[in-house]
Amino acid sequence: MTNIRLEITGKTYLKGTIQTSGAKNATLPEMAATILTKAPCQITNVPMVDDVKIMFQTLLFLGGTGTLQSNKLNIKFDNIKNFSISENLAKKTRASILLLGPLLARHGQVNISLPGGCPIGERKVNYHLEGLKLMGAKISQKNGFISAKAQRLRAIKYTFSTKTVTGTENLIMAASLAKGKTTLKNCAFEPEIDDLITLLNKAGASISREDDRIIINGKDNLQGVHHEVIPDRIEAGTFMIAGAFKNNNITIKGCNPNHNKYLIDLLENIGCTIIINRNEVKIRPADQLKPIDINTNPYPDFPTDLQAQMTILLTQSQGISKIVENIFDNRFQHVNELNQMGANIKLSKQNNILIYGLTPLLGATITSTDLRASAALVLAGIIAQNKTIILNAQQLFRGYENMPQKLNQIGAKIKVFKE
Ligand code: EPU
Repeated sequence: MTNIRLEITGKTYLKGTIQTSGAKNATLPEMAATILTKAPCQITNVPMVDDVKIMFQTLLFLGGTGTLQSNKLNIKFDNIKNFSISENLAKKTRASILLLGPLLARHGQVNISLPGGCPIGERKVNYHLEGLKLMGAKISQKNGFISAKAQRLRAIKYTFSTKTVTGTENLIMAASLAKGKTTLKNCAFEPEIDDLITLLNKAGASISREDDRIIINGKDNLQGVHHEVIPDRIEAGTFMIAGAFKNNNITIKGCNPNHNKYLIDLLENIGCTIIINRNEVKIRPADQLKPIDINTNPYPDFPTDLQAQMTILLTQSQGISKIVENIFDNRFQHVNELNQMGANIKLSKQNNILIYGLTPLLGATITSTDLRASAALVLAGIIAQNKTIILNAQQLFRGYENMPQKLNQIGAKIKVFKE
């Protein structure tokens, strides 16, 4: 991947309207789901981000034919030509693990390198594998590769020990072509999972949700589908946080405010005024932000994917805030970078930070460590005095569509340099 450096001229104010793209984390499982049918599929509102482009390359390698352009994916899997996914492709994105369920269900065989993705902590896939084994797959792991084989998968009753987003998605996809009625319990509630269920049901699957229980009546085959991806709640949430800094005045268009309910309540609690009008959210910053304690947890609680962005905002509140990260064990890598900019954040335990505000931020040369931390550092650069240089910023483009351009249109000064 090309190295990207961002140069941000700070102390600019954001004013205007910003558009939300389609959800990366809904698009990725939906792309994997197209393997389940021989018929043509079309997915629209696809964000043109690097993780999606890598998934598209992988689908073509597996035997899919089609195009990905102008936020539209057309793809058709007449045949599966390959079922071994190289380390080179699989390590580029965590989402490659989502190919396991569909390939096993449709093709009965898959070899895949353990997935890559953001270095935000240990990211196990044991529940994905446990569920598929119960469905009848023979799975072995050697030298970082998962090899799985199955005749037709059979239905299971399975309870996830921990809520897992991609784990739930993988088993739903596998069960939609399995023989019989599968019941999955303690399923995650992330809206991206329900968007995947909507797509699969349009393709002829029979899937219903009752609270944390998902019931899948397996089918012999699925049909083609046309589906529009839901708005990206993490991108919209990032912009909502951007709007909460003093003197900003922005409106986020094309989002689903229900998917950001926890964040919106939280922004109100720390003093912002939020005006919701259908798919539009206006943020009016507080004169003085209040500190707050936040715990990241599975949806509908506060998302880990907005934790880094919220850390920046809380450096601008008067008093001590605390954030506890409950999902990943290494997701505070932005803290060092922020402290270099003048923040006063203490990592009190590995999963726990105290933010002492209010601290003005000063431009610095900092390094981005993962996707969401990159977005957070961009927000830091916008409010900081002088120039901020963000190295390793290619991470940002894995999951945010045109973020610098979108922010520049409402007043930011971000330059992108490919190295
Ligand atoms: N876990 C296990 N075993 C498993 C699966 C998960 O122990 O088999 C643990 C993980 O180690 C983690 C927790 O369960 O501690 C939750 O992980 P989950 O499986 O829910 O995460 P994921 O499916 O790998 C998705 C998103 C992430 C997002 C998390 C949490 C996609 C492609 N990725 O990851 O998105 O942070 O859910 O909401 O949907 C991002 O977009 O920046 C991103 C990292």
